[in-house]
Amino acid sequence: MFKVINKIEKGYDLNIVLCFEGQVNICEHISSTNKDLIEKLINKKEFTGKKGETLKVEFLEGTYLISMIFVGMGKDEEFNLDIYREVMFDVLSKEKGSVLISAENEKLLNYNVLGEISSNVNYNFDTFKEKKGETLEIELFIPGEEKDFSETILLGEATDIARDLVDQPANVINPITLAEKAVKLGKKYGFEVEILDEKEIEKLGMNLLLAVGRASITKPRLIVMRYLNGKDNNEKIGLVGKGLTYDTGGLCIKPADSMFEMKSDMAGAASVIGAMCAIAKGKVEKNVVAIVPACENAINENAYRPGDIIKSMNGKTVEIINTDAEGRLALADALTYAVRNEKVTEVVDLATLTGAILVALGTITTGVFSNNDEKYAMLEKSSKLYGEKVWRMPIFDEYSELLKSTVADVKHTGGRMGGSITAAKFLEGFVEGLPWIHMDIAGTAFNSGVKWFKKGATGVGVKALYSYVKNR
Ligand code: BES
Ligand code: MN
Ligand code: ZN
Repeated sequence: MFKVINKIEKGYDLNIVLCFEGQVNICEHISSTNKDLIEKLINKKEFTGKKGETLKVEFLEGTYLISMIFVGMGKDEEFNLDIYREVMFDVLSKEKGSVLISAENEKLLNYNVLGEISSNVNYNFDTFKEKKGETLEIELFIPGEEKDFSETILLGEATDIARDLVDQPANVINPITLAEKAVKLGKKYGFEVEILDEKEIEKLGMNLLLAVGRASITKPRLIVMRYLNGKDNNEKIGLVGKGLTYDTGGLCIKPADSMFEMKSDMAGAASVIGAMCAIAKGKVEKNVVAIVPACENAINENAYRPGDIIKSMNGKTVEIINTDAEGRLALADALTYAVRNEKVTEVVDLATLTGAILVALGTITTGVFSNNDEKYAMLEKSSKLYGEKVWRMPIFDEYSELLKSTVADVKHTGGRMGGSITAAKFLEGFVEGLPWIHMDIAGTAFNSGVKWFKKGATGVGVKALYSYVKNR
């Protein structure tokens, strides 16, 4: 729970005071009678406010015991919001009950970022645990006029939706239950949802999507979410999210260690669903259509095989090389559907697409590919706002050579070298020249590295997509 207040009207389990190095403040707003005592304690314990340094002090204010923790943010001139995120996540994730945050310097009262951190601290995937995670009540004191902090709450909520969808295992989330979740969320948040089943998918000629999902007992679904609130705006933004509810690799089966996290192979889908919730509830005045090709890459005697040649929805024939490169196949048909049937005017896709992007960028940075400099710049700006790191990758035409097939119009993988790039090039072949952004979130959707995030799903992209759609 997160709130911004302008009057202190109750007691808290802990008072957190943020300060820059060399600018430690004595906090008269918390204790008027113990100023000298606090100052002495600070001096005695030699707290100076270095980045991440903390000092806990306790004292009586009348008969009331006050607990205070001073938190150092490092030098004022070296401050940035990544430091803020890291330090605050560290401090808050250790606390229980209720806390009041205050600071003298306005830079340390960033309620958008604190709201973001609060929702992260309070996110617990505990559906299957007897012992539920505790929630921390976080209030931020900003004297003066009331602040509108509804957007940070909304984005926290939308991110939680995405994270929960990803963290739920594949025996809970399959193409059908994912579609049901989308329908429910559409009703709750105010966007239209249409679900196409395997027969309709077949009628549309989405044979790549069908092939990938063919060996699973739960057949593919195409989830179409529409939010058309652009008034007289003719633009229609397409969001496409890879929705592999599980990826065994298919006949080219993955080794056990690599398969383990593959419930997260629908993180792209989760992010576009989360973003739709925020866009609709935030009443953003834009036209947006989100498409999720939902399927499971499983194995049975009916599975698609290396060597198969399959005709895509847009008419190109595709030679299947490796059944573990399934994401781009499902996405290709979804892109064609977005372009031709929904008539989007530009498209952003998110996908846990390649292990190669992990090799290139690790788990900190999302690899982004685009055929449009201006749109890329907007996306970069939107991501940065929320501390999500992105880096642009090349899509030079020379890479297309690697996708030439001797038996079909195109093959779907281009070998180990530049694996994320050839995957992107394959997708580009289905956007029919529209402005397009592809985000490979294989490294960033499921956390192992960054310090200011819990383990598990991150909800990467939800906030960036919201802001990309809203602020254009
Ligand atoms: N879902 C995986 C990519 C992935 C890897 C996501 C690690 C998250 C963490 C994707 O479907 C895949 O298996 N890609 C293959 C492609 C290859 C066969 C061309 C890969 O990257 O190994
Ligand atoms: Mn795969
Ligand atoms: Zn996959």
